Amino acid sequence: MPQLKGLILSGGRGTRLRPITHTSAKQLVPVANQPVLFYGIRSMVEAGVTDIGIILNPETGGEIRDACGDGSQFGARLTFIEQTSPDGLAHAVLTAEPFLGDAPFVMYLGDNLLQGGLTGLVQQFQANQPDAMILLQPVDDPRQYGVAELRDGRVTRLVEKPAEPKSDLALVGVYLFTKRILEAAKAIEPSPRGELEITDAIQWIVDQGDRVEPHVVHGWWKDTGKLADMLEANRLILDVIERRVDGEVVDSQIDGRVVVEAGARLERAVVRGPVVIGAGAVITDSYIGPYSSIAAGAVVERSEVEHSILLERAQLIGLEGRIESSLLGRDVVVRRGERTPRAYRFMVGDNSEIEIL
Ligand code: DAU
Repeated sequence: MPQLKGLILSGGRGTRLRPITHTSAKQLVPVANQPVLFYGIRSMVEAGVTDIGIILNPETGGEIRDACGDGSQFGARLTFIEQTSPDGLAHAVLTAEPFLGDAPFVMYLGDNLLQGGLTGLVQQFQANQPDAMILLQPVDDPRQYGVAELRDGRVTRLVEKPAEPKSDLALVGVYLFTKRILEAAKAIEPSPRGELEITDAIQWIVDQGDRVEPHVVHGWWKDTGKLADMLEANRLILDVIERRVDGEVVDSQIDGRVVVEAGARLERAVVRGPVVIGAGAVITDSYIGPYSSIAAGAVVERSEVEHSILLERAQLIGLEGRIESSLLGRDVVVRRGERTPRAYRFMVGDNSEIEIL
């Protein structure tokens, strides 16, 4: 089989992670202080796939290009491909046709995270040479995903977000394709939600009597499109970090697997891992509890935070209660007010959510 290319889909809309995605691409929201998208790129490179196309949309494409650069930071060669409107995953594949040519390729949805890497999957695909390979995992609520039905280990039917799923096997956002998928994408019609669905394109390959190989994934997999999933992905990645304290630590206690980047400063802080604290963050008189990712330049003062993600330069100052299961966007400030009358004062963007005691 010829050398595989890679295709990462980082266009689309980020409606379920608003307001964070009003101003930033959902594929750049960090998990353990690294954009989600970077995990996909690294997995490809690890599996020997270094010629990678990245689908972008016109609104957030610029910042994704800026974050990825030319790919040399990953050891990859990146080609950016603009999809003018988010007309579906199969439409994205068609947009990438000039880049893909006849090559087989591994496709990774830019907001997905898959433990266990791609190396074994790429080897299986090359050894068995099916027309397509799909990854599946049993989930609690299959209605939010593409769903596969199998009979005797063969794929019989694939349905995108069925109201009444016939199985609990969700399509994971990682696929291995031959050029047959391009033919399929040209043959199908838009779905009721107006998108050219990759699920329908794969069904077309099944209908032609060609071989679609299913592979049930046993490690964890996360679609990080929603807050709860993002926090869960953060937890899973933090679970495997190694302790490294390069920042400045004064009168503080650091327990367990904690990364403190150079340039961060902790003073009279208690940090209980797993936690990552980015460069230039300042933590003073505070507690940072397990499963927190504090991005570069964030400030936590006289506050407690746990199981949360703070993006760049977010600030938490003088809070009485503990913050948990929260995602704070860039430059967000949450602080105790000193003014009278004592009152809540908010300036909150569209689609924000605040829960108070
Ligand atoms: O996460 C797995 C699921 O991903 C699968 O089970 C579904 O079968 C599959 O359709 C997909 O469903 P989602 O509704 O979660 O897809 P979403 O719209 O979130 O798009 C996935 C990624 O692809 C995301 O990074 C944005 C990008 N994208 C999406 C569209 C619609 C594009 O690059 N272009 C597009 O036109």
